[in-house]
Amino acid sequence: MEFITEEKLTIVGAAGMIGSNMAQTAAMMHLTPNICLYDPYAPGLEGVAEELLHCGFEGLNLTFTSDIKEALSGAKYVVSSGGAARKAGMTREDLLKGNAQIAEEFGKNVRNYCPDVKHVVVVFNPADITGLITLIYSGLKPSQVSTLAALDSTRLRSELAKYFKNSPDKVVNARTYGGHGEQMAVYASTVTVDGTPLVKLIGTPKLPMEDWLEIQQRVIQGGKHIIDLRGRSSFQSPAYISIEMIAAAMGGKPFTWPVGTYINEGHFRHIMMAAETTITADGVTAKVPQGTPEEDKLLEKSYEHLCKLRDEVIEMGVLPPIADWHKLNPNL
Ligand code: 2OP
Repeated sequence: MEFITEEKLTIVGAAGMIGSNMAQTAAMMHLTPNICLYDPYAPGLEGVAEELLHCGFEGLNLTFTSDIKEALSGAKYVVSSGGAARKAGMTREDLLKGNAQIAEEFGKNVRNYCPDVKHVVVVFNPADITGLITLIYSGLKPSQVSTLAALDSTRLRSELAKYFKNSPDKVVNARTYGGHGEQMAVYASTVTVDGTPLVKLIGTPKLPMEDWLEIQQRVIQGGKHIIDLRGRSSFQSPAYISIEMIAAAMGGKPFTWPVGTYINEGHFRHIMMAAETTITADGVTAKVPQGTPEEDKLLEKSYEHLCKLRDEVIEMGVLPPIADWHKLNPNL
């Protein structure tokens, strides 16, 4: 059996729906034989491990533990969905306080138990903020921590494909940037549909402006829509995408959907947000996107929203003031 790497992958929050799907996906995609599952809820965790063992995967060396030190020790790759999930009626941002504290502890655990980790993917919401907190407390380099945002771009691709009754493959370079939340910036200028730039279609009978605005809203509310349909937060898509991200960090196929990454350049300072990114074995490389003036305004609004959430976390005392971040993480 060929694996991308032999190094240890730890999945945090493995008893949950996202975590258990991540574990299954990682095993199916042959990321590494050495997968360790962690969750504080021991019976649920054992249940997930049992089921994976019952799959009969070839070459899999599965371990599981409710001891975070044991789980993270020696881990070279970590994906964490170890926060509270969003329930009906909640925005991703409503999860802020509880999950901010969980991210602080997670970051400290990474620093203490696996300082040699190569890449960490953070999936729990609000992901831009929990990712930022994890980065600051872990002491890792910005290129080593990424967050789930690609799901918004894949949703844009899907919405456009549905609208034009076309294969999703005909929708190329769909992108959202900024936050993975109520204020994400859904771009048009990057996209082509069947070879035609989307901006040439918007405002024509093929895609009237009001329909485009509706598509943007459906992308922004994509997670809520899944909750409405299923009575629970999405798990298949976040699990799959985050495992593709970690596979890229292991040296698999580069991951080219926008991910959340630490940005500190030009106008965008001290923030984690989705930008134009690639994940490879060298980690995340990022460029701040250049859009139309209207898109730049959307990104600006998204950035301001993220700054507000970040400042709330500073106010709560979970993060120190920005000027002191380098004391916790000299890489910042
Ligand atoms: C979503 O958008 C869970 O944030 C995830 O569905």
